[in-house]
Amino acid sequence: MSEKLITVDDFEQYAKTFLKKSVFDYYWSGADDQQTLLDNVAAFSRWRLYPRVLRDVSVTDLSTTILGQRVSMPICVGATAMQRMAHPDGETATVKACRSLGVGMMLSSWATSSIEEVAEAAPDSLRWMQLYIYKDRNLTRTLVQRAERSGYKGIFLTVDTPYLGRRLEDVRNKFQLPPHLRMKNFDSEDLAFSSKKAYGDNSGLAVYVAQAIDASIKWDDIEWLKGITSLPIVVKGILRAEDAMEAVKRGVSGILVSNHGARQLDGVPATIDVLSEIVEAVDGKVEVYLDGGIRKGTDVLKALALGARAVFVGRPALWGLAYKGEEGVKEVLNILMEEFQLAMSLAGCCNVNEIKRSLVREDRFSSKM
Ligand code: LAC
Repeated sequence: MSEKLITVDDFEQYAKTFLKKSVFDYYWSGADDQQTLLDNVAAFSRWRLYPRVLRDVSVTDLSTTILGQRVSMPICVGATAMQRMAHPDGETATVKACRSLGVGMMLSSWATSSIEEVAEAAPDSLRWMQLYIYKDRNLTRTLVQRAERSGYKGIFLTVDTPYLGRRLEDVRNKFQLPPHLRMKNFDSEDLAFSSKKAYGDNSGLAVYVAQAIDASIKWDDIEWLKGITSLPIVVKGILRAEDAMEAVKRGVSGILVSNHGARQLDGVPATIDVLSEIVEAVDGKVEVYLDGGIRKGTDVLKALALGARAVFVGRPALWGLAYKGEEGVKEVLNILMEEFQLAMSLAGCCNVNEIKRSLVREDRFSSKM
């Protein structure tokens, strides 16, 4: 591709031509019929912006804080697994890009770089650890302790994955890691999702999850997690107000409204469509974030207007990584920053506190998909 890439979608197109099919399929897919995958993106266009004018937007400040840590803008990189399939530097490139943009990175438990390697690649970066609770609680405890020791600032506990959603292409491709890679946080071949293991006629990752991840976790396990760490805990994968309120009651520090990039239960709503009812239920008691379908600066503006403190992007960072490693992730984050800054200014807002609920209304006339 010789033309300059100027949107996140351009980077996706590039990645589609560049990455091996089974890798692109794994990153790109949602579950089952991809209903929610398409809706995560489409739903943003059902919300309309109502800008204010004549408000001196000659100087703008995009910065905010997440769990008390300053970020240069309310757009951070969410956890996506196995990033070395996209680029040989994988997660270490992503963390460096985040560091240079002044945003945070959420590291997947299933990274192809270890917790410590990522910390060492950018020691003064802002990092959080995404966590799955394994059947082996000692192993889970060790992951949390390693993150804490390596300077990560919070645990994002995934709560929507007792089993892996059914991603059809991964089943067809019998998805596995390429032989030169492993999930670097684990020693044993079993836990490292090594291609030396046989996973049968299925998505290898679905088999891995069924074998290793604890499908019996429940609300009381938040208590357990709080007991083993002093880091703040954010629950990742909330879609209903009741669950958000329960999470608050259990003492979490934040809620990530997420449908796991549409990769778990197909048919759930787009995250932007449930955000405001969750924000209302939480009533300012903890921070609320959103991921799913963010591809443009106006998406970020809409999410903030509906009450998100910040948003996380997953796939866009992977497309940047596929394009040019650290530089590619930087380019993608820069595009989102510039687009968000322009959208905020054109809406009449100088800083994130001026982004109010009245800035957006749901467009009742456009048909839902
Ligand atoms: C997935 C897991 C890694 O969605 O979160 O594939």
